[in-house]
Formats: sequence, C-alpha cells, structure tokens
Amino acid sequence: MSLRNSLPKVNGTLPGPKGATVLERRAKYLPAAIKSAYPVVIERAEGAMIEDADGNRFLDWIGGVGVMNIGYSIPELVEAVQAQSEKYFHSMMNITTNPLYIDYIEKLAPRLPVKGEHTQVMLANSGAEADENAIKVAKAATGRPNIIVFTGAFHGRTSLTMTMTAKKAYSHGMGPFPDGVYRAEYPYLYRAPGNLEGDAAVEYYIEKLKQVFDNASPAEHVAAIVFEPVQGEGGFVPAPFAWVKAVREICDEKGIMLIADEVQTGFARSGRLFASEYYKENGYPVDIITFAKSVAGGIPLSGLGADKALFDKVPGGTIGGTYNGNALACASALKVLEVMDRDDYPGRALALSDRYISQFNEWKKDIPEIGDVRGLGAMMGVEFVKDDKKTPNPELVGKIVSTALANGLLLESAGTYGNVIRFLCPLCVTDEQFEKGLEIYYNAIKANI
Ligand SMILES: Cc1ncc(COP(=O)(O)O)c(C=O)c1O
Repeated sequence: MSLRNSLPKVNGTLPGPKGATVLERRAKYLPAAIKSAYPVVIERAEGAMIEDADGNRFLDWIGGVGVMNIGYSIPELVEAVQAQSEKYFHSMMNITTNPLYIDYIEKLAPRLPVKGEHTQVMLANSGAEADENAIKVAKAATGRPNIIVFTGAFHGRTSLTMTMTAKKAYSHGMGPFPDGVYRAEYPYLYRAPGNLEGDAAVEYYIEKLKQVFDNASPAEHVAAIVFEPVQGEGGFVPAPFAWVKAVREICDEKGIMLIADEVQTGFARSGRLFASEYYKENGYPVDIITFAKSVAGGIPLSGLGADKALFDKVPGGTIGGTYNGNALACASALKVLEVMDRDDYPGRALALSDRYISQFNEWKKDIPEIGDVRGLGAMMGVEFVKDDKKTPNPELVGKIVSTALANGLLLESAGTYGNVIRFLCPLCVTDEQFEKGLEIYYNAIKANI
C-alpha cells in the first residue's frame, strides 16, 4: 500500500538505529537551543503520513506546526516546482520581475478578506517577517508609533516579534526590546475570571483593552492592534466573533489598523481559506492580514495583504527583501490555491472538525481531565486539567504525547501552561487514518489517567 493511504506502524522502540545515528549528529552540530522533541528522522512523506529512516510510519497531526495543510508530496505541487526549477529559481523583484509572483498575488489579492476595494499583496519569507512588515505598513499608514498585542500571543522570534510574543521563554535574555509594544488580555473564555460567559465575558475583555489606552498608550498613538483569530502557541484559543466585532469598532473610532495574524489560521485550516472571512462576511473586516506556513505547501513563503491606500503611504525602500516571492515558492503556492479550491479543503476542515469536536465532547463526559474542547474549523485544541478548579495538567499532556508517538501518532502540546494538545493534521488525511488517529489518541489518554 502506498504511504499516502497507509496506517501508522511502529516497529520497536524509537528512534530506530538509523534515526539514532542522525540524532547523534544533530546533537553534535545543531545548537541545543533549537529545541527537539521527537525521535523521528523523516525519510519521506505523503499525504498525512511520514515514514522515518527505519521504516516506521507516523500519522502526522502536527503538520510541521501548521505548514502542511495541503499534505505532503501532493503530485501537482511536485510537478509545478520541478517545472519551474528547470526555468529559474530566483528573481530579485527590485531588479527583474518574476511573473509567477504577479500571477500569484493577482489570484490571492481578491481572496484576502480585508477592508477596501483594491487589495495589494506583498510576499516575504516567514511568519515573523510578514508580521514585521504589517506593522511597518500600519505605522506608515497612521503615522503612529505604538502597537497593542495580547496575552498568549505568538508572532515569531525576530526582535520585534519576540517582543510581541507573550511567553517570555521565547525571548529570555534577549533585551533590550523595541519600545511601543503594549499588551491587553486576550479573550481566553475557558479561563475568564468569575466564569464570565457570552456578552459579559466579551465586555470584560473589551474593557481590559480600553484600559491600555489609559494605562500604557493613548489611542491616538496606537498604529495597530494585532491578534490571532485562533491563538496557536497560546493554546488554540479562538477569538469570539463578538469580541472581534467590538475591537473593529474601537479601531474605527480611534483610527487604529486591525491586523489579523493568520500565519497559523490561514489556508483552509479554519473552514474558510482565511479565518477573517467570517468577519468580512458579517461586516467587520480587518485591515491587514498576514499569512505564512501552509501558503506554499512547505516551501518558505509568507506575505501580507491590505488595501492599496495603506500600501501607498509606505515610503519607498522601507519594505521588501532579497528572497521575497521566490519563484519555486510561488509555483507551489499557485498550486496550493488550485488544489484547495478543487478538493474543497475548507469543507474538509469543517467535516474533520465536526467529527473531532463531537467525539471529544463525548469522551469528556467520562474523562474529567478533558477540561475544554474548542476550535475554529480544523484548528482545534483539547485542554487537559487536574481538577474542577481547571488546574493545568501539562504532565498528563506529556504522557499522552509520548504514548501516542510510540503508537505512530504525532501530537504536539501548546498553550501558556503546556496543557493543550493541538490538531494541525494535513487536511487530506483519509477517513480511515483520521479514525485510527482518534483511536490511538483515546488509548493514550486512557493509558495515562
Ligand atoms: C500566529 C503566528 N504568527 C507568527 C509565527 C511566526 O512564524 P515563523 O516561524 O514563520 O516566523 C507563527 C509561528 O508559529 C505563528 O503561529
């Protein structure tokens, strides 16, 4: 059976002998600060499956942390990149125009659910770089110096984005940090004070946001508010739509740009091509969207889209970069869009979400350690707790991840307390593989409680 349609299978302990040799060399030459978690050395991958150097097969529910929404080794992408590689790899857009860059942004621009009639798109290389550029655009468009970000946020590891990122483990000892970055409370409903719910919870978090204008930066000095539609590293916490609408209203009133960091939510994961479509459909679009990860099926590419009127305010030369819009990446990105439309990846995300959420809610009835099951589309997380006081249970999460790995299912933790398990499986996973994944996951929970 092809790897693409196969099921997980692990022979003995991990890593196997071939994998162990690579991992030894890794330990010798790769800085230990680049964290490693899994004893898996990839040999090849297809669809939602990875085969390691020793012939073990894993079902991948991490997907390169949100990069592989389309799936591994999709034949159309392979063909497109191969064909482009025979023509040229690279064109520096400040010198010679790579037409694939233009082909791509021409297709993507009308699909980006931002405010305005004439969307333009700039491409970059990583999520952090896209976020940095979005902030440059917001600063140029407003002439203001400050930004507001949120508790639980993750925006990257460059100087500015590690400052924007909430968890200080990502920036320990790296100061001094850029000035003008202020933080408000993200609407983490499961952990809302006093078990506030619905409108009352939204009001509480909006009040907290407004307090930043009094305590940290006057609103008229704020260029942008940056949020993730579903916090990824922060624990797969979806922003309530009513909260986004209220933040949009504040931004309109105060002349602030609203930036959605869709680096992890983008490209069909949320049940739409972008999660911000839900906002635009309901009349409160964001101003700028950043994207990366799944955009080019694994070739580094990222970008941002906004109305031309905003980009027109950016001084020449302040945005751009050598590799932006690399030709191989654009060839792949064009195919990602085509395949996602043809095979209805957003619809598949919604179907997977229904099955997963209802199954976990069923298990939750008998497993008190399952504290919360949540998500938007197929960006889903399960939060594990110790008791009815919602004490985080990262120890249990660590054990579930290890047991699942030993049985061929790759899971990853997330969250401020490390007690959430995320779902970022390639959306082309077969039904049979998906059900097998649920079975391994359930057995791993049962084996550890
Ligand atoms: C929401 C979000 N923004 C930004 C980033 C940074 O992306 P990159 O690692 O490509 O710089 C990430 C990475 O996980 C992310 O999840």
